[in-house]
Amino acid sequence: MPKILATGGAGFIGSHVVLELLNSGYEVVVFDNLSNSSVKSIERVGRMSNGAPVFIEGDIRDGAALDALFEAHDIAAVIHLAGLKAVGESVSHPERYYDVNVAGSTCLFNAMLRHGVKHGVFSSSATVYGEPAPETMPMDEHVPTGPVNPYGKTKLMVEQILTDITSVGPGWRSLVLRYFNPVGAHTSGQIGEDPLGFPDNLFPFIAQVATGRRKILNIFGDDYDTPDGTAIRDYIHVMDLARGHVKAIDYLLGSKAVDNETPVVNLGTGHGASVKDVHAAWEAACGFKIAAQVAPRRAGDVTIYCADATKAKEMLGWEAEFDLAKMCEDHWRWQAANPEGYR
Ligand code: NAD
Ligand code: UD1
Repeated sequence: MPKILATGGAGFIGSHVVLELLNSGYEVVVFDNLSNSSVKSIERVGRMSNGAPVFIEGDIRDGAALDALFEAHDIAAVIHLAGLKAVGESVSHPERYYDVNVAGSTCLFNAMLRHGVKHGVFSSSATVYGEPAPETMPMDEHVPTGPVNPYGKTKLMVEQILTDITSVGPGWRSLVLRYFNPVGAHTSGQIGEDPLGFPDNLFPFIAQVATGRRKILNIFGDDYDTPDGTAIRDYIHVMDLARGHVKAIDYLLGSKAVDNETPVVNLGTGHGASVKDVHAAWEAACGFKIAAQVAPRRAGDVTIYCADATKAKEMLGWEAEFDLAKMCEDHWRWQAANPEGYR
């Protein structure tokens, strides 16, 4: 079976993608500098799957390390997940984001060019849509982009770099996947999200309140123009997302993909849930009350973000299967079994 390189494959999304690739029969090489992850995720994936992934510790900004990898392994396609993803940090330290996300991706694409590796899937984010008007919901891929922070800008830049390289490289085919809000964990509870430090995002924060690591959930604003006043997002189970990557690789390596094209595909459920919906679903999953209070709005938050995922269904034959209850149950199983994450 073809061998797939997953940069950032030790991370939250990457570990689930690697597991799903292995269980679909692909061979996998993981390349990760472990700056935001643990090698334990890959060890566990190896124990849970049909075949263990090869793990190489390294940085995507290190061209020589990438050369050594591509010389040692005959890679059919790359799934490029490695990068920095904290919106707040990207505002205070934009240089890190341009260095790792933009320069690092360019270094990777140059190494692919040197070694004749012509297929790439890029982990982008719905955040590239910026602050679209609520009337544009659910958003398809034609909604104009307009990222409002350095993180989002780097994601859009890398989309454009990959698109341009693909457009002229003989035999090149790529895919950009724009994820909405990935949450949950593998249903075994063995692998999951393990944020270092203070969790910025809703699911990991609630998970830490549920285990007692944090005292109370702050609901950021209940005066939005939504049915219950709290903001709405399109949460997607990470295993649905992982399956979407296998479909993306199947597509790129199959007969339907077109040379020199880089389609952009939203991966979301198409269903929105409010912060209060999420809080209630977590209480149901845990079977106990989770302390919460209404707090002021968080700067930069939008009222509603929701995907139109029709293109993913038509082009990749993919659609999300898991609902909010399953996302909370699986996230909670992982967190309860691993209250300190991989540490
Ligand atoms: P993560 O931090 O868990 O995974 C990223 C991985 O990349 C980590 O294992 C980290 O160690 C590695 N990495 C970082 N810099 C590196 C470098 N210079 N060289 C090699 N490896 C490096 O994050 P995640 O949530 O799994 O996100 C994966 C990708 O998906 C990222 O590109 C992110 O921007 C994108 N994305 C994530 C979300 C989300 O909510 N989690 C949403 C949209 C898009
Ligand atoms: C965040 C990122 C976005 C990224 C996405 C991926 C920001 C500003 N945006 O989006 O770039 O693509 O994650 O998952 O960080 N909330 C609370 N209390 C909390 C935490 C969050 O009420 O303690 C609310 C937020 O106000 C928001 C919702 O929960 O309405 C979801 O928040 P979050 O999980 O941080 O995701 P996004 O803001 O959608």
